Amino acid sequence: HAPLRVALVGLGTVGGGVIRLLQTNADLIARRAGCPIQIVAISARDRNKDRGVDLSPYEWVDDMTTLATRADIDVVVELIGGADGPALTLARQCLSVGKPFVTANKAMLAHHGLDLAGLAEKAGVALKYEAAVAGGIPVIKGMREGAAANEIARVYGILNGTCNYILTTMEKEGRGFDEVLKEAQELGYAEADPSFDIDGVDAAHKLTILASLAFGTELDFDAVATTGIRHVIAADIAEAAALGYRIRLVGMAENGPDGLFQRVHPMLVPLDHPLAHVDGSLNAVVAEGNFVGRLFFQGRGAGDGPTASAVVADLIDVARDEYGDALAMPVAALAQQKPADAGKR
Ligand code: NDP
Ligand code: HSE
Repeated sequence: HAPLRVALVGLGTVGGGVIRLLQTNADLIARRAGCPIQIVAISARDRNKDRGVDLSPYEWVDDMTTLATRADIDVVVELIGGADGPALTLARQCLSVGKPFVTANKAMLAHHGLDLAGLAEKAGVALKYEAAVAGGIPVIKGMREGAAANEIARVYGILNGTCNYILTTMEKEGRGFDEVLKEAQELGYAEADPSFDIDGVDAAHKLTILASLAFGTELDFDAVATTGIRHVIAADIAEAAALGYRIRLVGMAENGPDGLFQRVHPMLVPLDHPLAHVDGSLNAVVAEGNFVGRLFFQGRGAGDGPTASAVVADLIDVARDEYGDALAMPVAALAQQKPADAGKR
């Protein structure tokens, strides 16, 4: 099939990861998508910044507002961030004119997701956001598809890689909060404004999205009671350990008789609970369904590779939507790949 032509806006940690992934795994992605996925246009703030990847094959676009209506672009990927501002303008422009839109921007979705989903529905166009919750873990697809037939009683988990990295590094290596936060920023885990991470706001954005998916309720960020980890000190971690617990920043949503309960706060997690063993930048999401039972999703929740993996999975979905995916199995690609080839791997 003809390539899926992508405009990529935002070339930072995640945007750079998407370029590297599309370059590195181009062939297998084309087989699985049913067509090559090609970046056509790129945009960010600073045209001259060295991003450590070869950008010469792509057209630089200064004015991203032109992207929505370009006939030579099939899908726009937004990796700028921010609840409002250029990301929201771009999302509204694209979805209003029926341009498929992929984003990792949980802040924008938590605040404007309903409005954007409404535009997408009206135009009959894809709005995809796998990377917005728990980085590389396919939890959106897991909840929307795998658990779709279940009534969900509770969904909870470790939703912020930066906080988990800070808490577990403090715990294991006895290092100070500020030093470990700086390291998390250097590793590309933190938000542009890291107070969103350490004050629990980023986890609350993600919980808002998860709760809406799990319970079929409207996104309601303001209803999430949120406390971050800014005030957790080494002594708290040591006291918790002495009592047989670990401290984790947990987001939890539960549909009870008094309505939806949504909270993000540091919790004492007993050592015999799997969340106590989720370390570093890993995230984990637990969902309890009335037929499937307890689902436990775990994987890397932040950073360029895992997040790019989720963004490109969405692009593959867009391509499959375009070209049909009746068996959910790329028959033509399978025929090209002989068992003898597979055996060599
Ligand atoms: P970065 O800060 O690394 O990159 C942001 C990019 O957006 C930069 O290329 C920047 O341009 C560009 N940008 C910022 N403001 C503007 C603007 N006004 N106009 C045009 N371009 C702009 O962020 P990340 O890559 O870390 O995050 C991107 C998105 O992905 C965010 O929504 C974030 O929440 C989300 N996310 C991030 C994860 C992570 O692990 N980092 C994981 C999951 C989601 P320039 O480079 O020229 O300054
Ligand atoms: N800043 C976020 C985190 C990025 O640390 O989890 C992934 O959403």
